[in-house]
Amino acid sequence: MRRPAIVSSAVGFARGLAPLALLVACLAGACKQSVPPETGPAPAAASAPAASVAPAAPPETGSLAGGPDDAGQAPAVPGVDVATGRRGAVTTAEPNATAVGRAILEKGGNAVDAAVAIGLALGVTHPTAGGIGGGGFMVIYFPDGRSTAIDFREVAPRKASRDMYLDESGNPTKDSLYGPRAAGVAGNVAGFAMVHKKYGSLPWKELVQPAVALAKDGHEIDSVHAEDLTAGVKLMEDYRKEVEAANKNPAKAAILAALDQTMAIMRRPDGRPWRAGDRWAQPDLAATYQAIAERGAPAFYRGPLAKKLASEVRKMGGLWTEADLAAYRPIERKPIVFDYRGHQVITMPPPSAGGVSLRQIFAASEALELYQMPWDSVDRIHLYVEVLRRVYADRNQLIGDPAFVKMPLKTLLDSAYMKRRVSDVNRQQATPSAKVSAGVEVEEKPETTHFSVVDEKGMVVANTYTLNGGFGALVAVPGTGILLNNQMDDFTAKVGAPNMFGLVQGPQNAIAPGKRMVSSMTPTIVTKAGKLRAVCGSPGGATIITTVAQVLLQVIDYGKPIDRAIVQTRIHHQWLPDAVIYEEGLDPKIAKGLEARGHKLMSRGRIGHANCIESDPKTGELRAVADSARRGGDADAF
Ligand code: DON
Repeated sequence: MRRPAIVSSAVGFARGLAPLALLVACLAGACKQSVPPETGPAPAAASAPAASVAPAAPPETGSLAGGPDDAGQAPAVPGVDVATGRRGAVTTAEPNATAVGRAILEKGGNAVDAAVAIGLALGVTHPTAGGIGGGGFMVIYFPDGRSTAIDFREVAPRKASRDMYLDESGNPTKDSLYGPRAAGVAGNVAGFAMVHKKYGSLPWKELVQPAVALAKDGHEIDSVHAEDLTAGVKLMEDYRKEVEAANKNPAKAAILAALDQTMAIMRRPDGRPWRAGDRWAQPDLAATYQAIAERGAPAFYRGPLAKKLASEVRKMGGLWTEADLAAYRPIERKPIVFDYRGHQVITMPPPSAGGVSLRQIFAASEALELYQMPWDSVDRIHLYVEVLRRVYADRNQLIGDPAFVKMPLKTLLDSAYMKRRVSDVNRQQATPSAKVSAGVEVEEKPETTHFSVVDEKGMVVANTYTLNGGFGALVAVPGTGILLNNQMDDFTAKVGAPNMFGLVQGPQNAIAPGKRMVSSMTPTIVTKAGKLRAVCGSPGGATIITTVAQVLLQVIDYGKPIDRAIVQTRIHHQWLPDAVIYEEGLDPKIAKGLEARGHKLMSRGRIGHANCIESDPKTGELRAVADSARRGGDADAF
């Protein structure tokens, strides 16, 4: 069993469309609309006008006024969950977590408090991505205009080594994908504790308690998570068969026992498939969270739980040690901040490649004046793909953990560099990726979930975190309820060999003890004149960067309300494989037009899951949107 290449998640993206439903509940300035998904392409122009067409862009800053949805009535955009309000807004991948975030804001917590409580709650209710056995990134914007970035990415254990995922013939094994050897040392609990201590306002216990209750008393699952859990158990069953069939694995018995315990947690007690409305409790995880509520992050990284994590992982052949856990530190970093057409974009620096690549995409779009062209035109999409091809060639070969590799960041972030980088783009013909390499010479010597929160004072949090593949390494540490991540697969296991997202990366992202693996996670905040304009992010592996770019470019360049931007069909290119990866719903005329220019096309069910919030530039009203047709989720505002 090999995880399919270039899938955003082991489960979930090819979901059936939700039944036709329209729910509108507007209560004293807080509107909530749950609407069915769009099934076809957006009705926008499919023609292919020349690059010199008159500017199609409506006013540079989008206003939410003007459409039927703007008045809080029937929404014009199907396929998203929208909520509007003035005092606070939250959007996450799961309704119970959204409710936790709203409750924290309503009781006076700030956006960081709400984000921490959401992050911990998702660890209970969204196990495919949100577990505390993973890591991630948070970008924060403060009402006074400051911003910061928190890196709580996993690190390679001290016993990790460059070739640890290669067999005797030098070929990559599956060990970076499944089982305890795939796990980097987890960062979530440390990251949340750090932001809480520095920027939170409510007591820590109050932020952990909702997650304890969700795990202990159980919670109702929705249809998306019913499917997720059922699909997750299937993955675990398949993995179990593989472990069972392996003859040489000395840790076989321990892994099998752990897998049986993991499946016992994830299965419906009667063994049948989960259904929406079922209740799911996780007593072991509740006890783990209780310890974290009482002792804070040290409960995870030192003492009895850390001992247990290290010894159980080791029994299963994994590399974690108590010393690895004790040494784990989240890092506060300076975010990447850049201007784009009158807006300020605040995003994540390395070891995530997300912010660098986003900056490059925006700079190249500006250089090529893509904003002059209709969004849904072959001309624009062709050029956009040419930009992505070059940006990902840089991403895959130049970005690494800043503590380990030197990166030409100044150049990569310079708009003049991007202008040069796209100067060879042929407006009519695709450039084969084989002819594109990194734009700077390389020195010898690169399942997730996103949530966004805005509070009453204007503090904003963008948080993306992950176990990597759906349900991470597919195995929980016995007795703790903690699913291990398989983030080690984000490293370059072998130069030139694709990882689970099809990314072909270079030696700068090779495995080394204590090193952080390159990420595509792109939690991003956009401001205008010091005020929030939008906050956004997504899962989707390599497609995260392009998902975030597409949503934000539509908001900034085309003045589209963010819900419209989110439902648009997405396009992705990552240099290698040399193919335009497109979402179902792409207009066949556009597909043909791209093929005529020499692009190979590769279809994908769904790309990303963007849970974003915007602030109406005119009225300041908050509009929270969950990308619900793609993968459920829940937006709320009040
Ligand atoms: O950090 C990264 O780029 C990946 N580990 C993200 C994984 C992901 O988005 C999977 N989910 N869809």
